[in-house]
Amino acid sequence: MLFLRVVLLVVPLMIFLCGRHVSGCDRNCTDKPVFTPSRLVVKYGDPVAANCSVCEDCLDLFGLETPLGEQNKTGTISWKASEMTEWDSTPSCYYTKKDSDDQCCSDLPITVYQPPDNVLIRFVGHTGPMFEGRYYTLQCEVQKVAPIENLIVIFYKGQTALDKQPYNGTNKKPVTTIYNLVIIPSEEDDGAQYWCEAKLELGPEGPQPPPVVISQKITASVYYKPRLEAIAHPVLITIPEGERLQLNCSAVGNPSPSYTWTLPSERLHSSRSNVLTIDSVTPADGGLYTCSVSNSRGTINVEFKVKVEINNHNATNNHHNATNNHHNATNNHHNANNHHNANNHHNATNNHNANNHHKENKSLQQQYQQQTDSPRHNVFHALSSALF
Ligand SMILES: *[C@@H]1O[C@H](CO)[C@@H](O)[C@H](O)[C@H]1NC(C)=O
Ligand SMILES: *[C@@H]1O[C@H](CO)[C@@H](O)[C@H](O)[C@H]1NC(C)=O
Ligand SMILES: *[C@@H]1O[C@H](CO)[C@@H](O)[C@H](O)[C@H]1NC(C)=O
Ligand SMILES: *[C@@H]1O[C@H](CO)[C@@H](O)[C@H](O)[C@H]1NC(C)=O
Ligand SMILES: *[C@@H]1O[C@H](CO)[C@@H](O)[C@H](O)[C@H]1NC(C)=O
Ligand SMILES: *[C@@H]1O[C@H](CO)[C@@H](O)[C@H](O)[C@H]1NC(C)=O
Ligand SMILES: *[C@@H]1O[C@H](CO)[C@@H](O)[C@H](O)[C@H]1NC(C)=O
Ligand SMILES: *[C@@H]1O[C@H](CO)[C@@H](O)[C@H](O)[C@H]1NC(C)=O
Ligand SMILES: *[C@@H]1O[C@H](CO)[C@@H](O)[C@H](O)[C@H]1NC(C)=O
Ligand SMILES: *[C@@H]1O[C@H](CO)[C@@H](O)[C@H](O)[C@H]1NC(C)=O
Repeated sequence: MLFLRVVLLVVPLMIFLCGRHVSGCDRNCTDKPVFTPSRLVVKYGDPVAANCSVCEDCLDLFGLETPLGEQNKTGTISWKASEMTEWDSTPSCYYTKKDSDDQCCSDLPITVYQPPDNVLIRFVGHTGPMFEGRYYTLQCEVQKVAPIENLIVIFYKGQTALDKQPYNGTNKKPVTTIYNLVIIPSEEDDGAQYWCEAKLELGPEGPQPPPVVISQKITASVYYKPRLEAIAHPVLITIPEGERLQLNCSAVGNPSPSYTWTLPSERLHSSRSNVLTIDSVTPADGGLYTCSVSNSRGTINVEFKVKVEINNHNATNNHHNATNNHHNATNNHHNANNHHNANNHHNATNNHNANNHHKENKSLQQQYQQQTDSPRHNVFHALSSALF
């Protein structure tokens, strides 16, 4: 600061000596003083330096007007400052034309920049989950950045740039600015991350890559009604008796949905899970299943029609399994009327197994004969299942 005062004293002195103020100078003359480099981009507080030279026979009468730093004059003028502490300054180099009072001048444009202290993102006047189709304002606050005219603010959703906003201002000192972006969220935006980026585009003389400060990320929560996640299931599900039935009505939604199953039989307790499993289906499990998926935004109903096929039992299968339905006294297949039906139980390969119901040694023929004694509907049933 002391030095600044010295410079301010020196400049009027030079003006006194030259008898003319630099600002009244011709900036459009031929043979202008030349600055090297011709323009400067410097971060506030960083050192800065430049040289000015003029035509050979102008040497005696030239000078450099700057608000800070020191200069040596040896043919050219070398100027440097250890810290750039002026936001808006334009050094001028000048000489007085020979045989005339006219001055000829050049200016050294200097861009003094400061990356933002901080960049913040928020929703204006809103917290918590959003509703689809409504308007919300995202706000990006860029704190203490200079110069504002070189600032670009970009809003992002994930990796996608949504909007790029320049600023019209011309203030060269650090300012805090606010940028708004209106969004209308949809289901796909649930869980998306919003953030913004403040970038100082300072041109080729500026730092590469350009200074960038990014905000924190805010994760959007968007309410939407349940949507079935599983791929379409067949209209009719046909499943052999004894097999495992699994019905899946997994859905996505926000808030996360709840499930209620309506079952054709009362055999099972109603399930509150997304997947309904019956380890071993019986004919009683056939019918219409409805899965109702709901959250605060809506409900969807998913229907499953289940047909349980009566097994045509084979030798490797159920016959010898004591836990199996076929040997369960309550099961239709083994009631008194069915013993001699045309079902597989009684074909030649099966006749002699330990669980066989027929103690006598009968030929296949004899068995069929015996069948005619049983009630007709059972014969029909047995034949049709044998055909099946
Ligand atoms: C500077 O000179 C150019 C021609 O060399 C002229 O077109 C322009 O008007 C001049 N500008 C000023 C401010 O005198
Ligand atoms: C100014 O000139 C001197 C020598 O004449 C040189 O050492 C220095 O690097 C130059 N400075 C700039 C900023 O060009
Ligand atoms: C001016 O000259 C002095 C001594 O030679 C040197 O220490 C100083 O760095 C020079 N300043 C510039 C701006 O070149
Ligand atoms: C910039 O200027 C344009 C048109 O001149 C105006 O529509 C816009 O609102 C301005 N932006 C800012 C941030 O002032
Ligand atoms: C149900 O379906 C969903 C979506 O397809 C899948 O992620 C999940 O693993 C399935 N659950 C079962 C038990 O098959
Ligand atoms: C007996 O049943 C088995 C298994 O179902 C079958 O492979 C075989 O051909 C049958 N035999 C006769 C004589 O029907
Ligand atoms: C018999 O049952 C087993 C087990 O369920 C099955 O793998 C096999 O294919 C069946 N055989 C016939 C002839 O149906
Ligand atoms: C009998 O069947 C049940 C259910 O189908 C099975 O869990 C069990 O392992 C079987 N037992 C034998 C001895 O095959
Ligand atoms: C027979 O099956 C029924 C239902 O399928 C079951 O309730 C019963 O306990 C079973 N009986 C035996 C002896 O396994
Ligand atoms: C069953 O009858 C066949 C001939 O019809 C005979 O060869 C076989 O020895 C008999 N088996 C028994 C256990 O009586």
